[in-house]
Amino acid sequence: MNILHVSAECYPIAKVGGLADVVGSLPKYQNKLGVTSEVIMPFYDNAFTKTHSFKTIISSKVKLGVFDLEVNILTLENNNLGYDLFLVDIPTLLFKNYVYSSEDTERFLAFQIAVLDWVIQRDKKPTIIHCHDHHTGLIPFMMAQSHKYSQLKKVASITTIHNAQYQGWFSHDKVYMIPEFDFNQVGLIDWDHQINPLAAAIKCAWKVTTVSPSYMEELKSSANGLESLLSHESGKCVGILNGIDTQVWNPETDDYIVKNYSQKTLNSGRNANKDWLCKEFNLDPEKPLFSFIGRLVGEKGADLFPKLFDTALEHLDINILLLGSGATDVEDALEMLTYKYKGKYNAYIGYDEKLAHIIYAGADFLLMPSRVEPCGLNQMYALRYGTIPIVNSIGGLKDTVIDVEGGGFGFIHHQLTVEEIVKTMERALVLYKNQKKFKNIRKLIMEIDHSWDSSAKAYINLYKSLNN
Ligand code: GLC
Repeated sequence: MNILHVSAECYPIAKVGGLADVVGSLPKYQNKLGVTSEVIMPFYDNAFTKTHSFKTIISSKVKLGVFDLEVNILTLENNNLGYDLFLVDIPTLLFKNYVYSSEDTERFLAFQIAVLDWVIQRDKKPTIIHCHDHHTGLIPFMMAQSHKYSQLKKVASITTIHNAQYQGWFSHDKVYMIPEFDFNQVGLIDWDHQINPLAAAIKCAWKVTTVSPSYMEELKSSANGLESLLSHESGKCVGILNGIDTQVWNPETDDYIVKNYSQKTLNSGRNANKDWLCKEFNLDPEKPLFSFIGRLVGEKGADLFPKLFDTALEHLDINILLLGSGATDVEDALEMLTYKYKGKYNAYIGYDEKLAHIIYAGADFLLMPSRVEPCGLNQMYALRYGTIPIVNSIGGLKDTVIDVEGGGFGFIHHQLTVEEIVKTMERALVLYKNQKKFKNIRKLIMEIDHSWDSSAKAYINLYKSLNN
C-alpha cells in the first residue's frame, strides 16, 4: 500500500502549528507497520532548506490559469526522517521565508496542481492520497472530476481536518485556475457563494477524518459555517485521535532539555529543568510554576490571558511563564505584565522549540484554556514529561485529560471565564501542596501511552476499508 501525504507543513522542515507535528510523525509510524508512506509539501526558503541538500527529480511547468510557472520536484537527500520526503519548488510562488501569506489561493492551488501532475507521471502509483487541511482541499475534487487526472479516479482520497476554522475561501472569479474546470461541477466546490476548499474536500474525499472523536461531534454544531455539510456527510467522517512522536518527545533522551530523566529520576530531573527556567526567566523555583505554550489567538483562549494572569498572580502564590506569539494586542499586554509581576511572571514572545521542551520538563502545570481544540498535542507532550495539564473541556482535550476529581490526573474547567480558570488553578494548588500525591500523579502520567502506535493502525484500517 502506497500512501502519499500532502501538506503545507511538516516538522522539522516547516512548522507553524500541530499540523506539522502530525504530518512529520504519522508517516514514520505507518512505515513501521509495513506500508509505504511518503510526504509531499512546498519548498520554502527557510532554515531547514538552507541547511539540507535536495535532489531535483523532475523539472517542468505548472499551469496556473494563463501562467506557466517553473516547477521542480525535489527530494531530501541523506534523509533520516523515517519516510521519503518530496518538495514542490515553484520559485515564483512558494519559495518564500514564510508558510502562509495573502497570496495563498494561488500558492496552494499551484502546489496542488503540481502535486497531481507529478503523481500521474510517476511510476510508483499511490493507493491513497491523504490530504491535510484546506491547503490541499481541492485535490480530492480534482482527482474525482478533472479529466486531466482521470487515471486517479479510482485512487482513494482522504482529508484530515486539523482545524475547520480556516477553510481557504476564494471567489468564483478564480475557478478558471483549476485545470479543465467543468462549470457543471461548481456545486462541489462552492459553499455559501464562495469557493471553499475545505467544503470541497468534505464533499469529494472518500473519507474525512478529524483529529479527535470529540472534535468530530462538535463540528456538527460548530464548524465555522460547515455544520450542516458535516452533519450531512457524517457517514464518511470519523475522528481518530492524534498520537505524538515518542522518539522526539522523550525526557530520557531529549537533547533540548537541561537534564534528562526517567520515571525513576523524575524529581531530580524535573527540578534541574525548573531551576534553569527560573534562573533564565527570573522566577522563584520554590513556587509552583504554571505555563502556557502556543499561539496567542482566540482559539487558544489567548484573549483572556492578560486578565487571567493578572488575576491569578494577584491572588495566588504562583509563578507563570508563557511562550508564544500571535495577536499583537495580546502580546503587548502580556509584555506589560512582566513589569508589574517581576520575579513571578515572564513571557517569551516568539517561538523556540528548545525552550518549549524545557518548559514541558520543568513547569509544574500546563494551561490550555482553548476555545477550540481539534486535538491538541501540548497536553500529550506535557503528560509524557510529567507536567500536569489544566484544560478547557473541549475537543481533543476532553478525550485525553481526566480530572483529578474523577480519579484522573489533570484539571478540567467547563467554562471559559477568568473566574473558572482561576478556580481550577486553585484546585491545582491544593494538589501541589500535597507533594506526595502531586509527585505520584506526575509519575503516573508519564506512563500514559499517546504514541502513534494505535492511531497509525487506525488510519491503516481506514485505508484498507477503502481498497476492498
Ligand atoms: C491544529 C489543531 C490542534 C491539533 C493539530 C494537529 O493545530 O488546532 O488541536 O492538535 O492541528 O492535528
